[in-house]
Amino acid sequence: MTDEGMNLTLSEEHRMLQQATRDFAQNEIAPIAAAFDESGDFPLETIRKMGEMGLMGIEVPEEYGGAGMDTIAYALAMIEVARADVSHSTIMSVNNSLFCNAIMLFGTEEQKHKYVTPVASGEKIGAYSLTEPMSGSDAANMASRAVLNEAGTHYIINGRKSWVTSGPVADYVILFTMTEPEKKHKGITAFLIDTDRPGFERGKKEPKLGIRASATSELIFDNYACPVENVLGEPGQGFKIAMTVLDAGRIGVAAQAVGVAEAAYEASVAYARERHAFGKPIGSFQMIQAKIADMKTRIEASRLLLYNACLAKMRSKETGQRYTTEASMAKLFASETAMFVTHAAVQIHAGMGYSKELPIERYFRDAKITEIYEGTSEIQRMVIARNELQLR
Ligand code: CAA
Repeated sequence: MTDEGMNLTLSEEHRMLQQATRDFAQNEIAPIAAAFDESGDFPLETIRKMGEMGLMGIEVPEEYGGAGMDTIAYALAMIEVARADVSHSTIMSVNNSLFCNAIMLFGTEEQKHKYVTPVASGEKIGAYSLTEPMSGSDAANMASRAVLNEAGTHYIINGRKSWVTSGPVADYVILFTMTEPEKKHKGITAFLIDTDRPGFERGKKEPKLGIRASATSELIFDNYACPVENVLGEPGQGFKIAMTVLDAGRIGVAAQAVGVAEAAYEASVAYARERHAFGKPIGSFQMIQAKIADMKTRIEASRLLLYNACLAKMRSKETGQRYTTEASMAKLFASETAMFVTHAAVQIHAGMGYSKELPIERYFRDAKITEIYEGTSEIQRMVIARNELQLR
């Protein structure tokens, strides 16, 4: 494995976390992944255990219930969980980089204690709700509304959100909705939603191609009264918060992509050595060798782009500089690599790759989401090119 380069040396603490997460993921997640994929049930028990291990708030300081580690640690742990199961890593990713991170960056002290601590420790589940039925990539074009009441104490929220990861089970949601529609993206505000209050309902659970154990649903707000103290950041700052947090989220998705690609690659190498055809291991045929070489090369390139994005995020704490391009490049390349590698893995395993007896077909179905959520590959290309060209 390429851990060095770009002045990156993994510390003893990094390696310990990597090993502990690998052991847990291989012993406790991998054996149940197929059953949860089949049933579509939410794997609450393993998620809680991951919380106890500190995996639900890796970068959250210990005083708020997290592990107090850095972004490299987050990526290393995410790779290991995704290598066992992308559904688990999806739930982990939303809790860490979308939910906890948003509140750590923009929340008040009170909000951090109330919302981050239980989610970082895995007692509660967090969600991030930006998308609507008619606005996905064009995220600012939302129809949901929040209106301040006459007393100035509550925002009354109405509307429908969609494709919310952990929506069916979330205890808390970071909701982005329009407070001043005439201001377009500058009229979006972020709110902290307690899902046990009146006016909140969970809509239909999405039946999905992959990551079937990570529950996804619509959320419906019907005159939900949100206290003004639950505004996250400032009114009108919501779009900036959403975008800033997605930069961190995209690093998590890149790590998930590396993890599932590694799982498919390792299985393919083992199979190419064991499976015989025409009296030889299939790995001795050049057409299989070419696939193995391309899979390996793209995975290592993805890992380096991922580390590059992690280091850029870590530097940004001191410099305040955005790491948008680095995060988008890592997500774009790693997710397309995950598709390439899992596709090749199915081909190398042939009939067995298509069979539910092995996890290869699940890797292939699960990998696809990394090219879609937290911004499609088309959006990542647009973000990278806009930043490079500096055109509007
Ligand atoms: N960080 C901070 N600010 C940012 C930013 C970033 N990464 N990107 C944009 N902004 C700011 C801009 O500076 C600009 O601010 P000013 O008005 O002050 O200048 C403002 O946001 C608007 O920027 P744009 O003009 O670039 O906005 P746009 O409307 O053209 O859209 C976009 C930009 C990149 C396409 C954005 O809409 C986008 O990322 N779309 C994809 C949305 C997405 O990823 N959705 C996934 C949802 S989460 C999910 O998948 C579900 C889940 O549960 C995991």
